[in-house]
Amino acid sequence: MNRNLALEFIRVTEMAAIASARLMGRGDEKAADQAAVDAMRTMLDSVDCQATVVIGEGERDEAPMLYIGEKVGSGNGPELDIALDPLEGTTICARGGMNAISVIAIAGKGNLLNAPDTYMMKLAVGPEGRGLMDIRESATENLKRLAEAKKCRIQDLTAVVLDRPRHETLIQEIREAGARIQLIGDGDVSAAIATANPNSGVDILFGIGGAPEGVIAAAALRCIGGDFQGILKPRNSEEIERARKMGIPNINKVFSIDELSRGNVMFAATGVTDGTFLEGVRFKPWGAMTHSIVMRSESGTIRHIRAEHHFDRKPRY
Ligand code: FBP
Repeated sequence: MNRNLALEFIRVTEMAAIASARLMGRGDEKAADQAAVDAMRTMLDSVDCQATVVIGEGERDEAPMLYIGEKVGSGNGPELDIALDPLEGTTICARGGMNAISVIAIAGKGNLLNAPDTYMMKLAVGPEGRGLMDIRESATENLKRLAEAKKCRIQDLTAVVLDRPRHETLIQEIREAGARIQLIGDGDVSAAIATANPNSGVDILFGIGGAPEGVIAAAALRCIGGDFQGILKPRNSEEIERARKMGIPNINKVFSIDELSRGNVMFAATGVTDGTFLEGVRFKPWGAMTHSIVMRSESGTIRHIRAEHHFDRKPRY
């Protein structure tokens, strides 16, 4: 994969972020999501590649654009698979909360898990915890191992968990183990990435969130050098069947970070609202400012890109 492609994909997330940020705090999740999808779809065709959406807005019949299987890109260039979420954190954006991002992960053909649109139990940590965690073990055991690796006490660790009734027992266990907890309303991609940022204040992510978001977070952590494990958590027999059709016969399989995304991966994200690792879009009289991150697993380089977009010279905006 040409490394310059990563920079091309930043333009895609920037455009989607600006479009959805316009609707921040308006209470309209659908409109914010649609704006991001439209913008992302438009920009994708300007990138020289022949890409297939493997994680997208849903199945063809329920998603008019960026559906799973859709071909995007200019039609010239490398064959790629793309996992995308034009607006990760639709509710966050609609409420003007923290950590809504526009995000895309890119890999060579066949190198991203085609995850069904179901749930996934997740465990994410930064580089210190790589290879030491086991999602099949209890949260307490994983906290112990991480504390040892980070040479601190469990009490010094902060676990991030989606604030959902399904996590009641998990939260109870983490509290009993002595770790601190950050409960988040939404946005477990940002939260998973935050575990690899020593300044984020979070050390480990536990709990069940969207499976597509799991694949995207795993791609990001492969670039940073963190770790991620996931087990699909389908809600019904149709979802189990769907997974089987997508090539996952064993629904209880533990997916390692290297099974969720293989080979060289690129990851790009732009902040929509302010967050742990990205600032949100700032609108100015002349246009907008964006903050993005772009990373590649091959080199491990992490680039922060702050861009000024002058709308009078960019008719698309
Ligand atoms: P959306 O951007 O699709 O709204 O997803 C937000 C999110 O919080 C994800 O980060 C997370 O993986 C998932 O929703 C959790 O799903 P649920 O809200 O159903 O618990």
